[in-house]
Amino acid sequence: LVAGVDTSTQSCKIVVRDAETGALVRTGSAKHPDGTEVDPRHWWDAFQEAAAAAGGLADVAAIAVGGQQHGMVALDAEGNVVRDALLWNDTRSAAAAEALIAELGDGDRDAGAQAWADAVGSVLVASLTVTKLRWLRDTEPENAARVAAVALPHDWLSWRIAGYGPAGDPTAPLGPQLDALFTDRSDASGTGYYDAAAGEYRLDLLERALGRTDVVLPRVVGPAEAGGVAHPDVAGADVEGGALIGPGAGDNAGASLGIGMTPGDIAISIGTSGVVSAVAPERTADGSGAINGFADATGNALMLAVTLNAARVLDAAREVLGVDFDELAELALQAPPGSDGLVLVPYLEGERTPNRPDATGTLHGIRLATSTRPHLARAYMEGMLCGLADGLDALRALGVAVERVLLIGGAAQSPAVQQIAPQVFGLPISIPEPGEYVADGAARQAAWTLAAAADAGAEAPAWSTTITTTLDADPQPVVREQYAAVRDLV
Ligand code: XUL
Repeated sequence: LVAGVDTSTQSCKIVVRDAETGALVRTGSAKHPDGTEVDPRHWWDAFQEAAAAAGGLADVAAIAVGGQQHGMVALDAEGNVVRDALLWNDTRSAAAAEALIAELGDGDRDAGAQAWADAVGSVLVASLTVTKLRWLRDTEPENAARVAAVALPHDWLSWRIAGYGPAGDPTAPLGPQLDALFTDRSDASGTGYYDAAAGEYRLDLLERALGRTDVVLPRVVGPAEAGGVAHPDVAGADVEGGALIGPGAGDNAGASLGIGMTPGDIAISIGTSGVVSAVAPERTADGSGAINGFADATGNALMLAVTLNAARVLDAAREVLGVDFDELAELALQAPPGSDGLVLVPYLEGERTPNRPDATGTLHGIRLATSTRPHLARAYMEGMLCGLADGLDALRALGVAVERVLLIGGAAQSPAVQQIAPQVFGLPISIPEPGEYVADGAARQAAWTLAAAADAGAEAPAWSTTITTTLDADPQPVVREQYAAVRDLV
């Protein structure tokens, strides 16, 4: 058996699968506090709770962790976090991102943006770890001075699973050994100080942010390389030699492995963040900043656009209309495509793609005739999907092949989203069976790590994903056209 873990913004999910067939054997999950800054100890507590809910992990021979990308987990020499982790959705380092861009371009923003894209695959936005380190140096110098290691959420949890952790913590019997930290290419590629194309950390860029380089950075292990062995109190107690810990991954790379994406596939995920992603043989350096050139979990590039306004736009619509998710879908389907000109540009609390951290949303075209609950419901849904469609256009503009669109995330199950998405994207859409794709991707990594330990040439397991619904393209150009006109006004 193998275990895959998803340590996400809100919860910890664990799947236990058969290493050979991929058959699902057990699952467990536990919620933890969320927000934009969180004490990582909550992730460890939620992991332990989820493992217990999954019937324990004594019988797994390998485990791997997928996690929310970018979060800054800064550790002191004793293995304690120096402050709560700043997460991917925290925008306080937006000014630090701009300062770093300007500095790399010697004052020329465009040149600086292109230089970051060339160096690390992405133009900096507040999400990337490097900007959080600059913010820490400038705003909390006492904390910055204590930093002895910088990890990401998945690296930190893998380290805890191996038995390391803060000095004196009874759940960390191996103590604060910082050089036991490891990560993988996909998550490292979201730090802003790792060049996945060259496979090396850019200490010069880390120094620009933190002002020094005498910190431990997690060792970057290969796609099927074990980074360590789980402490028997945590996993693998009943397995000879213990449970190997696979490399793990950033959640988007984990999900693309979990769904089994290959070049030509585009995944559109509607979750806390909206993510449009594509696996490609090589990363591009998009100086416009629309597309992040991250690495995937197998050795390819993972190109992706991220919007901050996805499922929460639908939550906001439910709040405004006082309805549940099903009623929202029913209402939205009562209005015509384009909602008779009622347009929502959904930058409800800033936006990342386009990079407008201080933007607010706009509701345009409100008339007596469009002041109805169905029009509002549809405008919120169309606006949210148009934001994602802008991301898809940006991928296309870089020459990324688009052969199949997979719609995932909780909102993908909404009948209204299923009807409106082919109208907005103008493409046929496949909807995979709902699942824990990130945890599943991590489970695949664990199985791959196990197989590679026996045979170095082993390939990633070919467990299949079931497509439950396919939707034909139904382009309604008015929806995108009127959206673009309003978006460009504000
Ligand atoms: C990706 C990103 C988000 C988080 C969500 O760049 O910031 O998708 O990974 O956990």
